[in-house]
Amino acid sequence: MTSALFSPIKLDGVELANRIVVSPMCQYSANDGCASDWHLTHLGMLANGGAGLVVVEATHVERLGRITHGCLGLYSDACERALARVIDHCRAIGTAKLGIQIAHSGRKGSSRRPWEGGQPLAPGEDPWETIAPSAIPFGPGWHTPRAMTREDMTRVREAFVAAAQRAVRIGFDEIELHMAHGYLMHSFMSPVSNKRNDEYGGPSEARLRFPMEVADAVRAAVPAGMALGARITGSDWLDDGLKPDDAVTVARSLKNAGYDFVCVSSGGVAADARNPTTPAYNAPLAEQVRREAGIATRAVGLIASPKQAEALIAEGKADMVALARAVLDNPHWGWQAALELGADVARPPQYLRAAPKLWQGAGYRV
Ligand SMILES: Cc1cc2nc3c(=O)[nH]c(=O)nc-3n(C[C@H](O)[C@H](O)[C@H](O)COP(=O)(O)O)c2cc1C
Repeated sequence: MTSALFSPIKLDGVELANRIVVSPMCQYSANDGCASDWHLTHLGMLANGGAGLVVVEATHVERLGRITHGCLGLYSDACERALARVIDHCRAIGTAKLGIQIAHSGRKGSSRRPWEGGQPLAPGEDPWETIAPSAIPFGPGWHTPRAMTREDMTRVREAFVAAAQRAVRIGFDEIELHMAHGYLMHSFMSPVSNKRNDEYGGPSEARLRFPMEVADAVRAAVPAGMALGARITGSDWLDDGLKPDDAVTVARSLKNAGYDFVCVSSGGVAADARNPTTPAYNAPLAEQVRREAGIATRAVGLIASPKQAEALIAEGKADMVALARAVLDNPHWGWQAALELGADVARPPQYLRAAPKLWQGAGYRV
């Protein structure tokens, strides 16, 4: 049997061995933005789980663009050195290609880690001033952000470029912009959070202006050959929010700007927005974006079983799938999928004696 999930895909000059992507997942375990030994273990493990690509968590382009005090950053030489150590390690011992999501938290920053409640930092917890397109808080009790000035926009755009340059120096295979989940770039695009009355607010082209200025500047800083993409919003899941047609517009703009792929996620723009909880709930949004924008597309969100992932690729609903929680449950999810789908997957030589042929020879059946 040939598996669509385990067929290779090329994103610009980067060939992924299969269509399984480990979704970016914040670990809240950095020290002033610097990756720690936790990242060494966590990412080292995932780099050997059978995914074609592992994407490092939202990595923030400036210190006040972090979500929490524990978030990863790429805004100093110390951050760059710490992440280079982790990525060198993953490359030396792992089988996956390595990507990074670069991000700015916007009005969702200055908050506590999820296991500390995830709420805004209180006075005495070293909170910081957050920024956003408009001075509208994420929800009741959240910090009121300062509406960004032109100087802020220039600084943030340059911070994205500098972080991308650091990621290039570290040797990542892939970079993706975080344009979803209510963080800064998404908050410019959504009419829920962007109420500006200058040329960066109002109609959808104007709301897209700042995110595309960032995207263009990053594109110019990333050499051809690396895979470059973005995580975008398929729906705000709010009556007055972004809809799938908006995602098609964003994907087309990114494609025209020279981007190689999009990952279609959704939700997160306001505290009262609720995502669906049905299996693969973003897949119909990804399918529409893929069909109408004609760009390589990744689906994410409640994809958990190998057969479900295989069907999404085989039926042309997505070019890649990203998994987050299923991979935390089983870091070798890619190995399990290969076993179930009868495909080959790269394994480190130290673990070859556990390869499925041996199991099957002993009568093991899935
Ligand atoms: C622990 C954790 C951390 C996450 N951090 C990020 C992140 O850094 N960037 C991002 O775009 N999404 C992040 N997400 C969302 C996931 O990447 C993914 O889109 C979401 O969990 C849905 O996929 P799943 O159903 O496979 O978990 C995170 C999810 C989890 C569970």
